[in-house]
Amino acid sequence: MQKGIIVLLLLTVVFGSCQIGQKQKLTEQQEKEYIIKGDSISDFMQGILLKHVANAINHGGTEFAIGFCNMNAIPITDSVSALYHVQIQRLSDKNRNPDNAIKTLEDSLAWQKIKSSSSSFIEQQASGDIVYYKPIKTGMPTCLKCHGSSAEIESKTLALINEKYPDDKAVGYSQGDLRGMWKIKFSE
Ligand code: HEC
Repeated sequence: MQKGIIVLLLLTVVFGSCQIGQKQKLTEQQEKEYIIKGDSISDFMQGILLKHVANAINHGGTEFAIGFCNMNAIPITDSVSALYHVQIQRLSDKNRNPDNAIKTLEDSLAWQKIKSSSSSFIEQQASGDIVYYKPIKTGMPTCLKCHGSSAEIESKTLALINEKYPDDKAVGYSQGDLRGMWKIKFSE
């Protein structure tokens, strides 16, 4: 009898703890709201990065702009993350900065989905985290000055890319190709 109670208690503890950390599934309305938030944050981020890259190219050409991106792309992304209380990243299967590699199983599954669906979506991960993903394309000719073929990238620029990023994989793209994805983790 006493054994039965102990087993019952243990089961309660085990199953009870499974519930902890498991949040309620998002409703369709909530998902829509997260998509809207993610779209506006990633559009804002994209706008800031583009503006800075264009200014840097105007100021000192693509070579100068590589130095600028190397120093500032992640700090700018982190400061916008802090502003919105989220965690923003740009990830790619052919990443330039090693910090932007796809490393987790969740991110590789999201990458497969981005490749086949090509639109933004929300994932609620096992941890309960709500994460937004959106494709990034080489939407304009400027992207190819630093991510195109070796004929499209100035030789001095390519040399600097290889110096700053010895494991660079982010070249050889054509206009309109899938270059990477935005990942925005919402902290609730
Ligand atoms: C002046 C050169 C330059 C131009 C132009 C440029 N990029 Fe990049 N890009 C870089 C550099 C340098 C990095 C690595 C930044 C870092 O260290 O965080 C990078 C990183 C990225 C990343 C993050 C993933 C990775 O590979 O590390 C994405 C996505 C990306 N660029 C997309 C684009 C798109 C889309 C365009 C056009 C709208 C573009 N880039 C234009 C130089 C450039």
